Amino acid sequence: MSDTVIVPPDVLTAVRAKHRALWALGDYPAVATEVIPALGPVLVEAAGVRPGDRVLDVGAGSGNAAIPAALAGADVIASDLTPELFDAGRAAAAASGAELTWDEADAHALSYDDGAFDTVLSCVGVMFAPFHQTAADELVRVTRPGGTIGLIAWTPAGFIGQMFAAMKPFAPAPPPGAQPPPLWGDEEHVRALLGDRVTTVDAEVRSLPVSRFASGAEFRDFFKAVYGPTIAVYRNIADDADRTAELDDALLDLAARFQDADGAMGWEYLLLTATRS
Ligand SMILES: C[S@@+](CC[C@H](N)C(=O)[O-])C[C@H]1O[C@@H](n2cnc3c(N)ncnc32)[C@H](O)[C@@H]1O
Repeated sequence: MSDTVIVPPDVLTAVRAKHRALWALGDYPAVATEVIPALGPVLVEAAGVRPGDRVLDVGAGSGNAAIPAALAGADVIASDLTPELFDAGRAAAAASGAELTWDEADAHALSYDDGAFDTVLSCVGVMFAPFHQTAADELVRVTRPGGTIGLIAWTPAGFIGQMFAAMKPFAPAPPPGAQPPPLWGDEEHVRALLGDRVTTVDAEVRSLPVSRFASGAEFRDFFKAVYGPTIAVYRNIADDADRTAELDDALLDLAARFQDADGAMGWEYLLLTATRS
């Protein structure tokens, strides 16, 4: 077993409220459908989801992985801290003919029985639960022995990892004990979190082609308008025009490092699957 990590309940309650409000800002489903829709099906295929499997998607958002899992014939619960995202998910599911259940749940304290699922997925989702060991323990707990855990997370060196690094100087202080999201994109970190409770870990760093933004300014303004974490950082410095201009420039510099002449980029992520012992 991992070393038990107890996050004080009052810290967890405060983080829950803050992060739910953050992810409800803007229009996260626009990111899922316009920028990263390819990731969900990649995860479903890598995890080998089959008809009849009981599947939990953690940090499911508007169903980027949960919907293709349901379309593969699985019995799916899409769980997320932010139920404000479920309306978009329900509409997308109805449009594609998928049937699944939507359920509010914090990755740090999942409301499901031990071993309840054949497959537990998280597509750039659980990485945003700041108490990594606590969240990893929950993923392991709800996966049945012999079942599969499948994860996609942005790497620290990739575009979104670097976007969080660029935003950090402008962001409010994280809660005590919080760990940065892109650490979930580091294979050794995830292996240590899952520990000897899993076997046959397969991990691969891949790149998601992103051609949604013709210019750095287009990327920045889209994220400023729709992506909760970016909106929250701008709100933190809203009364300081100089700092706001600095962050504007930092995001342009970031895009310039990654975009080619046509604006195309590759966003690096870790794809990891593991079998529950
Ligand atoms: C980048 S979005 C990914 C959503 C979806 N999986 C996708 O691929 O589009 C991150 C998601 O994690 C959720 N999230 C953040 N913290 C969470 C937590 N502690 N427990 C459960 N979900 C969480 C957010 O509400 C958000 O929907």
